[in-house]
Amino acid sequence: MFDSSDVQSVFSGNIAEEWEKKSRYINSLNGNDNMMIPTIKKYITSTSKILEVGCGTGKLLSQIDALTFGIELTGVEMSSDMLQQIDTLRFKNPVRLINDSVENFIDDNKYDIIVMKQVLHHIVSREQVLKKLAGYLNPNGVIIIMTPNDGYQKSILPFNPITDLLGRIDDSMIYEYIKDLPLQVVEIQHVNSLATFNSLYEYFMFLYAIGSLQKIFNYKGEYEYALKLITVFKNLFSKEETLSVDFNYSYITLKKK
Ligand SMILES: C[S@@+](CC[C@H](N)C(=O)[O-])C[C@H]1O[C@@H](n2cnc3c(N)ncnc32)[C@H](O)[C@@H]1O
Repeated sequence: MFDSSDVQSVFSGNIAEEWEKKSRYINSLNGNDNMMIPTIKKYITSTSKILEVGCGTGKLLSQIDALTFGIELTGVEMSSDMLQQIDTLRFKNPVRLINDSVENFIDDNKYDIIVMKQVLHHIVSREQVLKKLAGYLNPNGVIIIMTPNDGYQKSILPFNPITDLLGRIDDSMIYEYIKDLPLQVVEIQHVNSLATFNSLYEYFMFLYAIGSLQKIFNYKGEYEYALKLITVFKNLFSKEETLSVDFNYSYITLKKK
């Protein structure tokens, strides 16, 4: 198994530095691969307090910031290499950044909207984290989660709900995680887009750039051997061959019971 410190080291160094360039490996993307803002817009008001868990380099935080004046933003991120790329001076609303894991972070505030974009599938104790976040919700608050679901990359890597290599989360798992928590599902939306890659090399390097290659190896050092193999056989893997990959995500909205 792995723990959050393994995940933290994967999202540090060159992965963090190159985070905003990861889509260079994708040749084309058909469909919408980010419905977070339309979903957040359903709930945001001009006084919302918003917490983003695993805010990475702050792209979503700055998109939320652009929606309205008057909100307060907080980002929690355990990789300092990710966090230090956020320029808080560019925000028009107050923004607070906390360099900690969601498991360890402690706060006196409560939130109207808590968002997690592409983070829950990297977390070991998902029920525990959801339980903790439920405690940080205001009475009418919502938790909005974007996660790869059972359809994500399904033609390449079969989905396994118990030991899934990519940590994908299907609807039944969500209901299972929250069954004893003071949370209920408001909505689950499935949105598919189709990414094409020009070669296996670009596909593998994309998996590495988003931390999925590392996840397949439980975030442990063995993934470095896989990366080395891909690099050694770069010419072979670079043979032109169009690869279509489903990027199927769930947008899950939860509220207090
Ligand atoms: C796949 S990246 C997504 C980053 C950002 N949300 C985005 O969409 O660009 C996952 C991020 O979650 C962070 N993360 C993973 N597990 C975490 C945890 N337990 N506590 C805090 N941050 C975590 C990682 O450091 C990484 O920056």
